[in-house]
Amino acid sequence: MGRLTGKVAIVTGAASGMGAAEAELFAVEGASVVATDVNPAALEKVVARIHEQGGQALALQHDVACRDSWDRVVRQTEDTFGDVTVLMNNAGIWNDTGYEDVTHEAWLQMMNVNAWGPFAGIQAVLPSMKRAGVGSIINVASMAAVNACGRFSAYTCSKGSVDAMTRAAAIDLAPFNIRVNCINPGVIRTAMVETAFPEEALVAAQRAQPLQRIGRPVDVAYMALYFASDESWFTSGTSQLVDGAMAVMGGVAPALASD
Ligand SMILES: NC(=O)c1ccc[n+]([C@@H]2O[C@H](COP(=O)([O-])OP(=O)(O)OC[C@H]3O[C@@H](n4cnc5c(N)ncnc54)[C@H](O)[C@@H]3O)[C@@H](O)[C@H]2O)c1
Repeated sequence: MGRLTGKVAIVTGAASGMGAAEAELFAVEGASVVATDVNPAALEKVVARIHEQGGQALALQHDVACRDSWDRVVRQTEDTFGDVTVLMNNAGIWNDTGYEDVTHEAWLQMMNVNAWGPFAGIQAVLPSMKRAGVGSIINVASMAAVNACGRFSAYTCSKGSVDAMTRAAAIDLAPFNIRVNCINPGVIRTAMVETAFPEEALVAAQRAQPLQRIGRPVDVAYMALYFASDESWFTSGTSQLVDGAMAVMGGVAPALASD
């Protein structure tokens, strides 16, 4: 019996990085997984890997910033696997624009995907989770939500919103036996950081971490697995750093913040 046997999980941003690792681990642990992303080609490969390992998964193209798209995903999940009991709000975008350069358009795009996206997801799965009588929602913010650093201004604001949303939703949804928790990753080696930073900056970030390593997507997926499972049934409204102890050292890697 897997740690998620009987669960029906939607994982957003599952075509890459942490979302792909979470979708695969959840399926290995027995969940029926609906993997969603704006990138259908890469998503199909993740779902094919899950099927090869004997897991249950469905790939759906989905833009988390679009409320109608959420309703379609939830409907198709219910039709295929039944009521949703786990929502992994993982999808996100990043840019390193500083205060003086953030346009209103760029701000809205960041907030739409990173903050409205998970909020809309919570709205969309609520009827399903209420019917099921149980639910676990896992948001993904960032270490940047608790330790600011230069140049990540709009991203930091969007992730602070996700962190706070977690606490608000945990209180509002507790009467329905729905738990809401948040993961705040540090520097994790995914397409997002490999595109954003030169390799030297990542090596410098690694050296700056007390644990002297860059995180792997699976490191975050294991934390998500705990929150998704009934093992965490008394845990709600929390934000958990997965960052190699970088935050307690004083924040986001200076190497990533400098030019
Ligand atoms: N990598 C890190 O160091 C790091 C650190 C802190 C937080 N995070 C957060 O972790 C989450 C996962 O990031 P990752 O590093 O795995 O990135 P990634 O770029 O590898 O994966 C993100 C996925 O989200 C998808 N996506 C983007 N916009 C979307 C949308 N509107 N709707 C649906 N899917 C969309 C992308 O297509 C991609 O597959 C993000 O929320 C990110 O902000 C990452």
